[in-house]
Parts: sequence; structure tokens; C-alpha cells
Amino acid sequence: MMRRKLVAGNWKMHGLKADLGEVRAISAAMPDNVDAALCVPFTLIASAVEAAGDMLIGAQDVHEADKGAHTGCISAGMLIEAGAGLTLVGHSERRADQHETDAQVKAKAEAAHRAGLMVILCVGETLEERDSGRAEAVVTAQVAASLPAGAHGMWLALAYEPVWAIGTGRTPTEGDVAAMHGAIRAKLRELIGGEAESMRILYGGSVNAANASALLGCADVDGALVGGASLTADKFVPIIEAAAALG
Ligand code: 13P
Repeated sequence: MMRRKLVAGNWKMHGLKADLGEVRAISAAMPDNVDAALCVPFTLIASAVEAAGDMLIGAQDVHEADKGAHTGCISAGMLIEAGAGLTLVGHSERRADQHETDAQVKAKAEAAHRAGLMVILCVGETLEERDSGRAEAVVTAQVAASLPAGAHGMWLALAYEPVWAIGTGRTPTEGDVAAMHGAIRAKLRELIGGEAESMRILYGGSVNAANASALLGCADVDGALVGGASLTADKFVPIIEAAAALG
């Protein structure tokens, strides 16, 4: 099956109104044959939506409840009202820093979908888990435990982000990327049958202009989730163009 590539930027805790020029420049360079998105801090969503034109603006997290006594948290309905079309859930930085569990990540994805958001659900192993030969077992277990009910490629994508590759300049070999994405696809087939073919599986972790073609060209890689190199148009646009060249 032909899956249209999705290249999403994750700005993490970066981005002030002074940076909206980058949002404008990235959206102006968006090719027709690729989906591009930027996941910005909550505070920047509404103004980024105005700056982004047709490009999708997303959040980096969402609370699993629709509303309630959850000081400092943001619901899916609030994201929709701010103009977001998508949210990340289960990023490893939140799994580590905020102790998010697979069950919570699943509930967040379901809440986001109920409100009408697209979702990118992140999974990935630590270096210790890879070095001990458990990477595939860990990641496929995360997929099984955090996959939302009714998972479908129309609204859900997965992102494989090895924790040790995030912000380090290190990436897995192309063989390791293809093997992991194949293992995730196989687990999805087990869980949701034929719908597995429609689901995009993005790679994330130290993607840049120099390695984007090779990583995006691996079997079962349907896009990229990009951190540091998504902060400026001069670094991010070449990655989107590499995806466009692969079709
Ligand atoms: P880097 O591209 O900075 O390694 O970050 C990857 C990431 O965590 C995207 O969500």
C-alpha cells in the first residue's frame, strides 16, 4: 500500500512569537505530495495556526480527561479550540520526566481522537534495552499496550524514536530501522489486521538534512518526527524535500 509520507516537527520547549517567521517559511515550502506538521508549545498554537496557512499545527501532549481538576493540564477540546489538528502522545521525554504509562498514553490518544485530533503515538527503547537485545520486545510491547481503541491510519500514526538517538546525533543503522519498523508493522497486523497497512510509522531521533533520505527510504518508514532540525526552515525544509523526492 502507498502511504503518503508525514514529516512532523516537534519544537519541544522552544518557540516564542519571535519564531513565527520560521513557521511561515516552513509552510511556504510545503510540497504537494507530503504531509507536514509542526508540534509547538501550547502557548504558540493559536498564533502558529495563523502563520501556518495550510500546514497542520499540533500539540506535544494532551490530558486524557475531557475536563476537570487537573491544574496546569490541557484537554483535547482546548487544543481543537486553539486550532490544533494533531497531538503527539507518549513522547519518551514525557514517559521519563512525567512518568507516563502505556495505559495513560492509550487514554490520551483516545481522548484526542474523540475530540477530532490526529495523533502521533511515540514508542522507543532505551540504550540499555537495545544493548541487552530487548529493543524489539520492548517497543512492540509498548505498541500493544498503548494502541488506542479503533486505531486507524486515517487519524493515528506511530513514531519509533529510540531514546538513545534523540538529540545525540546518533542514529540506528538503516538495517536496524527497517527491522524495527517491520516488527512494529507485524505487531500492528496482529492487533488490528488489515488496518495495519494504512498506518504510518515515522522514524525519529537525530534526523537531519544529511541522513533524511537514507532513513526515509528504509522499508516501512512512512515519515519522520524531527526535533532540533525542525526549529528553523533552513534545516527542516530539506528534510521535507527529501521525503517529497521519495514520494
Ligand atoms: P531530535 O531530532 O532533536 O533528535 O529529537 C527527536 C525527537 O524527540 C522528536 O520528537
